[in-house]
Amino acid sequence: MARATAAGYPRQMPSPSFALHLATKRSQRPPDSELVFGRVFTDHMAIVDYDVERGWFDPRVVPYGPLALDPAAAVLHYAQGMFDGLKAFRGDDGKVRFFRLDRHCRRLHDGATRLCIPPVDEPLARAAIVALVSADRDWVPSTAGTSLYIRPTVIASEPFLGVRPAKRYTFFVIASPVGAYAGEAFSPAKILVEDKYVRSAVGGLGGVKAGANYIASLRAAEDAKARGYNQVLWTDAHEHTYLEEVGTMNLVVRIGDELVTPPLGGSILDGVTRDSVITLLREWKFQVSERPLGMEEIVSAHRGGSLREIFGCGTAAVITPVSALGWKGEDLVVNDGQPGEVSRRLFDAISAVQYGRAPDPHGWMTALD
Ligand code: COI
Repeated sequence: MARATAAGYPRQMPSPSFALHLATKRSQRPPDSELVFGRVFTDHMAIVDYDVERGWFDPRVVPYGPLALDPAAAVLHYAQGMFDGLKAFRGDDGKVRFFRLDRHCRRLHDGATRLCIPPVDEPLARAAIVALVSADRDWVPSTAGTSLYIRPTVIASEPFLGVRPAKRYTFFVIASPVGAYAGEAFSPAKILVEDKYVRSAVGGLGGVKAGANYIASLRAAEDAKARGYNQVLWTDAHEHTYLEEVGTMNLVVRIGDELVTPPLGGSILDGVTRDSVITLLREWKFQVSERPLGMEEIVSAHRGGSLREIFGCGTAAVITPVSALGWKGEDLVVNDGQPGEVSRRLFDAISAVQYGRAPDPHGWMTALD
């Protein structure tokens, strides 16, 4: 049995090395022009198993295909599972680079404790992602706006219907060549401010990438779509006043010369794009505040003409400008419904680094050997 760590989990492999069981037949990658988000998958997946005796074991890359899961597997009943999402880009020079690989691996590791999932150490997550993308490097598309979306996921696979942390898990990584997240990159979205449903409360799961957060959001999103909006803007669970996230993204609002994003307080995801946006804005000498932002302030800024831009930021879409906010039966139109200058500048700057067209002073990109 592996020695236990301080947290009680078995010690992890110091330098994980993935066995390669490669597919004998490869699939045809769709043309870049036909890529949408998350519908086709590469030829392989990386898998690692866990049990309480051995810790994580048997790291391997195998042909992509269905997982053999017992119908009693805990994840299927009690949603004990989590994921992350990151991208690899093919630069204009043909090289494949990951955007903020280390930070994504750290978030996968750090979120596990809240869900009573044994953490996947960063070297293991990193090795799994690199092993998979190395095997499937031909799947990284090259056209502007395309990328390889990588989905590391941990699920409780123990067949057991009692409610307690599972004793067996599967960590897997899959990858999908993608185009823009919602049809067209950087297209403005009309957003309904949600005042009935709750995505997450402080003390809940909102700060971690639990699949449960996303199922909690579906009813509200479907109702908003039926009313002619693209998504919802989540408000706080107690008063439905303070802004939290927009759809599946972090939120940034420009009021006058201040760029405001809600503070992380347990109900908001610590977005990697959010962090990149804050870093760039501060370097560009904007005033950036991580502070509570209520609808009252938004309405008054809109009335007074100082509400200049609203946008969401996330891995999938990078930056999504908000054209209007539906609130109490009124649509507050933002910047005449057009993307704002800061949103545009951020989208262009982040994309340029991702495709290797601009210098990378923060060391955000990791090249695949
Ligand atoms: C992102 O924007 O990065 C997301 O989390 C969306 C993803 C769940 C599809």
